[in-house]
Amino acid sequence: MSLSHIARSIGESVTLKLNETAAMLREKGDPVIHLGGGEPKSKAPLEALVTAAGKLNSGEIRYTPADGIPALKRAIIRYTEEHYQHSVEPEHVMASGGAKQAIMVALQAILDPQEEVIFPAPYWVSYPEMARLCGAVPVPVYAEDGSFCPRIQDVEQRVGSYTKAVIINSPNNPSGAVYPEQFIADIVSFCERRDLYLIMNDIYHRLIFDGRHPINPYEYAIDKSENSKLIVVNGVSKQYAMTGFRIGWAVANKKLIEVMTNIQSHQTSGPSALLQWAAVGALEGIQSGVDSLRVTLENNRNVLFDRMASFEGIKVTKPGGTFYCFADFSNYDRDSTRLAHFLLEKVQVVTVPGIDFGMDGHLRISYCGSVKDVTAGIERIKWALDPNAPNELYIGERKLVRDWA
Ligand SMILES: Cc1ncc(COP(=O)(O)O)c(C=O)c1O
Repeated sequence: MSLSHIARSIGESVTLKLNETAAMLREKGDPVIHLGGGEPKSKAPLEALVTAAGKLNSGEIRYTPADGIPALKRAIIRYTEEHYQHSVEPEHVMASGGAKQAIMVALQAILDPQEEVIFPAPYWVSYPEMARLCGAVPVPVYAEDGSFCPRIQDVEQRVGSYTKAVIINSPNNPSGAVYPEQFIADIVSFCERRDLYLIMNDIYHRLIFDGRHPINPYEYAIDKSENSKLIVVNGVSKQYAMTGFRIGWAVANKKLIEVMTNIQSHQTSGPSALLQWAAVGALEGIQSGVDSLRVTLENNRNVLFDRMASFEGIKVTKPGGTFYCFADFSNYDRDSTRLAHFLLEKVQVVTVPGIDFGMDGHLRISYCGSVKDVTAGIERIKWALDPNAPNELYIGERKLVRDWA
């Protein structure tokens, strides 16, 4: 079969694939614990459901403007004012089919083939493939000290004449790291000085723990003009537990938003009217759900971290936000894909191999599920990896017998 060069260079989304595998095993009746997930388990806000239902009942669900309905753009403007103390106009805003599409369209709008896009490792699985879809070159940056937070010097060293953009995601998927405020300040001014686009992927910015506050990139931007190359991306998926609604957005200069809107208009048109109204409901409704989600996740993080800290042989850094923990299991197996398959096969626990985030030897463990799942999942992993553990483990009625060394 003749396929394009770009199509052949794109791998599948590992995380979406894992969701499918877990669902398939559950359907077979296997007692799977899914610690690979990327979505909160709480319900979508009532206001989102009511607003979307109202629209559905009207029976008039039409095409929308390619950059989003005015009501959603107004809600995004208010969100930007409230959470970033930054005033924007409707022409600075484009609503998309998730933050994923907003980032993809932004990259399509700014990257030429062979140009480079830089992002710290570990990184979200989609960045390299998104860059490749543009014919561009993904360039991960590793912190010199092996930590999850690169220094500005680590980024600077990777910037060359082909570099067009930097993507920053803090709190970070998969590490849960919240980058230091000074790093964000430095990266904003570095990108301004070097005339680079800076995409701030803020999709987890309100899911931040230990009393910390989201870091606001606009605070450090000197260029407030229409030449600003700062692009801020956000969405309803994580903070409102609305992953399936597929609404995200980008805020950027007017020219870039115009070009991004043109691209989106030919790709998908505007996002579904129904789901845009749901996002309006979430953004304009009572916000206590976001706080209670954050508190639940922080509690889950504490439970998980306690269990992991007493797990001999692994190295774990306390996540400052998100619902992921990225632990170093290289003492057990340096091949994270093999290790993740082993854990799935032997104890039916889903984790995500670190190699897909640019760091082999690690596993991403999600704590967006219940405390019960987190606790039981870690116990199963410990049992599977501890050669001194008892030979048998009971999962409900089911007896697992160790048939490996
Ligand atoms: C870092 C990061 N960015 C973007 C997304 C996608 O967000 P959305 O559901 O709004 O497309 C995810 C989802 O896992 C993510 O982890």
